[in-house]
Amino acid sequence: MDNLDKIIKNLSDNRDLPNDAFIALLQNNDADNTLFSAADLVRRKIYGVDVYIRGLIEFTNHCKNNCFYCGIRRDNKSAVRYRLTKEQILSCCTEGYLLGFRTFVLQGGEDNFYSDKTICDIVSSIREKFSDCALTLSIGEKSKSSYTAYYNAGATRYLLRHETSDEIHYQQLHPNSMSLQNRKRCLFDLKEIGYQVGSGFMVGSPYQTTDNIISDLRFLQQLNPDMIGIGPYITHAQTPFANFKSGSMALTLRLIAILRLIFPYALIPSTTALGTIHPSGRELGLKAGANVIMPNLSPAAVRKLYTLYENKICTGDEAAQSIKNLKKRVEATGYRIITDIGNAKKEI
Ligand code: 5AD
Repeated sequence: MDNLDKIIKNLSDNRDLPNDAFIALLQNNDADNTLFSAADLVRRKIYGVDVYIRGLIEFTNHCKNNCFYCGIRRDNKSAVRYRLTKEQILSCCTEGYLLGFRTFVLQGGEDNFYSDKTICDIVSSIREKFSDCALTLSIGEKSKSSYTAYYNAGATRYLLRHETSDEIHYQQLHPNSMSLQNRKRCLFDLKEIGYQVGSGFMVGSPYQTTDNIISDLRFLQQLNPDMIGIGPYITHAQTPFANFKSGSMALTLRLIAILRLIFPYALIPSTTALGTIHPSGRELGLKAGANVIMPNLSPAAVRKLYTLYENKICTGDEAAQSIKNLKKRVEATGYRIITDIGNAKKEI
């Protein structure tokens, strides 16, 4: 057996590797097929061919933050801003429910227009009307008491990517007003409160090194999240990073497979960013070990405005309304979409 094959076997058996073995795996494409098959084997053992779907509602693109990579950063004056009302959000859920969605993800920029009281009101209204559904929030860094209030109102899942777990890299991607320490504080608070927590990072973000990626894997091992979202960094012209190149699909797929082998039970989405850099990106993500897809349920009129990065797909098969086409594509890849609340399975 050659060296990379041994490394993959070791990772499959032990769910971990020494740093140098991770580096070898990340820097070589020779063993990709073996790696993807090993990840697929593990996902099939635990999740079969099931793919969970989440209806993503991007309810505000106002943001008080100024992350250097993000198209909806505060200083992007050419972004056309919007906010959805509670009624609009509820009607997205109604539409999603009829399409078969049983999880809704409310995502937005960090927008103080929505007070904690408003968020709690939206959350509890959704839970009241759709009592057999799970509600996920993805609205950034908040205080522990705010997170507790949302949880008590009925939100049980929270997505907050750590973006990078290296201090220096974190400062290269964010203005001084933000800190890795606070990001991590948020994630551990969320866990302590009882949320199912999702974290993750961008692949190929400016200045990212292989060592940074190893630190990201180590941080995720420490956090042990239920969900792990990764996608390629994609350049946006109206950001300070306009001249950096986008991340690669190959490395993203390799990382999805590695994450599946480290975290056999995790919910790992095949992300919109992956579908944006390659027309078959999302199918390839599933084959590499991902088991979640998050179609867009935002109203068509605002969908184009939630531009975290350029050319973000939003009107084709990734739109929730195209669920039939998505089902066909997923089936053609050898998997099956499940309309179910889709909780993470637990090791017994
Ligand atoms: N390219 C890819 N992903 C991005 N995100 C933000 N900006 C970009 C970009 N330019 C990701 C971040 C954030 C998530 C909602 O979108 O990781 O957490």
